[in-house]
Amino acid sequence: MRRPLIAGNWKMYKTISEALEFVQALKPLVVASTHCQIVVAPVFTAIKPVADRLEGSNIEVAAQDVADESGPGAFTGEVSARMIFDAGARLSIIGHSERRQYYCETDETVNKKIRAAFSAGLGVIFCVGERLEERDGGRAEAVVAEQIGGGLRNLTVPEASRIIIAYEPVWAIGTGRTATPETAQQMHAFIRSRVREMFGETVADSVRILYGGSVKPDNIAALMNEADIDGALVGGASLEADSFARVVNYKDNR
Ligand code: PGA
Repeated sequence: MRRPLIAGNWKMYKTISEALEFVQALKPLVVASTHCQIVVAPVFTAIKPVADRLEGSNIEVAAQDVADESGPGAFTGEVSARMIFDAGARLSIIGHSERRQYYCETDETVNKKIRAAFSAGLGVIFCVGERLEERDGGRAEAVVAEQIGGGLRNLTVPEASRIIIAYEPVWAIGTGRTATPETAQQMHAFIRSRVREMFGETVADSVRILYGGSVKPDNIAALMNEADIDGALVGGASLEADSFARVVNYKDNR
């Protein structure tokens, strides 16, 4: 059984006080939501105050990125996985398409970051997904296969069994154009088959694959109905406590 996971990716939104206001509003809305793991990913500066405020609750904190170097060392501007763990986060998003697109992250960087996160005890939400021209050119699976192969290269089986993968087609992020449940399911099944080839049946059966890209309260239930969709990475709809809670409580939307 794979436990569903709903994660909110706040991107570069919310100051510390805005983030605290959000979690204060969210807590009572999801206090009875035991059917899934709930995660919010604030900006670095808000991780510690948010994690402190969420102590003892059923909501966990993730970072949105980690340094590819473990350090400590002379890497101006970087924040190591150990520092992120120290601030109270227990997971990190890694390889988000915005990092790949605007900050030139390659599969190799992503792989280094995943290994740095694991060695500091952080869980990883590893993002993959094709761009529109790649899908239109019939290359969606080839692109994702390459991202999976590169990102997970040289991981041990115990490490691979802890990875959480997020399939986020770039054309669906922030566009209001979500993948249909069928399109998402097809890619999720493909991703699981790649994981099976790399790490075997047991890892493939247990690894959670989240969908991301314009997930909203009104489309989450249909997505969660698919066999290989184990949760969601939510951007825009995670910025308001009410709408994020409705995504978390997707079973009530059915
Ligand atoms: P979106 O973002 O839900 O606003 O499309 C998802 C993401 O980028 O993780």
